[in-house]
Amino acid sequence: MTDRDTRQILLTPGPLTTSDTVRRAMLHDWGSRSPAFIEMTARIRDRLTALAGGADSHVCVPVQGSGTFAVEATLGTLVPRDGKVLVLSNGAYCRRMVRILEIIGRACETCETAEDTPPDPAEVARRLNADPAITHVAAVHCETTSGILNPVEEIAAAVAQAGRALILDSMSGFGALPLDLAATPCQAVIASANKCLEGVPGLGFALIEKGALAAAQGNAHALSLDLHDQWITMERTGQWRFTPPTHVIAALDRALDELDAEGGVPARGARYRRNCDVLRAGLREMGFALFLGDNLQAPVIVTVRMPRDPKFDFDRMYRRLFERGVVLYPGAVTQEKSFRVGCIGRIDETDIRRALHEIAEAVAVMGVDRAGLTPAERAG
Ligand SMILES: Cc1ncc(COP(=O)(O)O)c(C=O)c1O
Repeated sequence: MTDRDTRQILLTPGPLTTSDTVRRAMLHDWGSRSPAFIEMTARIRDRLTALAGGADSHVCVPVQGSGTFAVEATLGTLVPRDGKVLVLSNGAYCRRMVRILEIIGRACETCETAEDTPPDPAEVARRLNADPAITHVAAVHCETTSGILNPVEEIAAAVAQAGRALILDSMSGFGALPLDLAATPCQAVIASANKCLEGVPGLGFALIEKGALAAAQGNAHALSLDLHDQWITMERTGQWRFTPPTHVIAALDRALDELDAEGGVPARGARYRRNCDVLRAGLREMGFALFLGDNLQAPVIVTVRMPRDPKFDFDRMYRRLFERGVVLYPGAVTQEKSFRVGCIGRIDETDIRRALHEIAEAVAVMGVDRAGLTPAERAG
């Protein structure tokens, strides 16, 4: 049997479809203190830093857990207790950062735009100039809530110009969206193993500017989320402070080999872009209306406006596709009802075409005509 016969097509924001070979890399039991495992940890850290052009300026500090653990660990480690964060908010993951900051007791304010509107770098500059107490800006690269691509290069330039530090959540973009730390100054970039890197869940990491990390001793609000302490221990012993997710790390090592073999970040980004283009064209062809215009859409996940035809039943379509091995995702934008279809993971346009075929059949079975939209709604 091939990969294609056995796997689920997860058109979600993660966990995602992985290759057989990545899953097979988890069949070995590693001792966490064995030299080969210590080497693997060091290798992965170096490879992740290199992916963003940060080998000289940044270090990779991995942390056990899902992506949110890495976000919480990075904010808690880098923002001093008397620091203040401006969060650029246009979706759920920015709002989650605000919640984290409130819980860990760091001052913050938000610069909010609608979920289909990127933050305005000029407004960011204005807010920074108006409030010298702000030490950090936190932003999300691709806001997975809608799939919008935020203008990180322009934001990073505005933040650097104001002499502040940028913390970037690139959870759903890292490994596929181009990011060059030499040209886009970020104090930290946060991501996880199980999105565009095509590993499995259980590991997050931050690439952190060396000087900032060295100065962060004592900031953290929690022992297990103290990235300074994690870093010091890793540098000194090569080991993790607490039980590492050994199998997840082995899978990520293999996934990084497969990223290299594919042609690195540009090739992966191009495959996802193709998936996204085929998906968007196919959905439009069926009459679905898309939440974002082409110019704002990251090649990560597509938000589809919920058809108004009462015959359209998303749960029914979801269940039908699930039984056929294709997994969609509910919507998350708050502005209107929607559902989402992802384009990342070990999938290609053949899988996307298969998913489109299943969606078309589901729509036909429900008796929905051209996705139940009026021409005006379709254009909308
Ligand atoms: C942009 C972004 N940030 C943070 C997270 C949180 O990651 P996790 O669900 O692994 O905790 C996600 C998850 O999809 C995300 O897309």
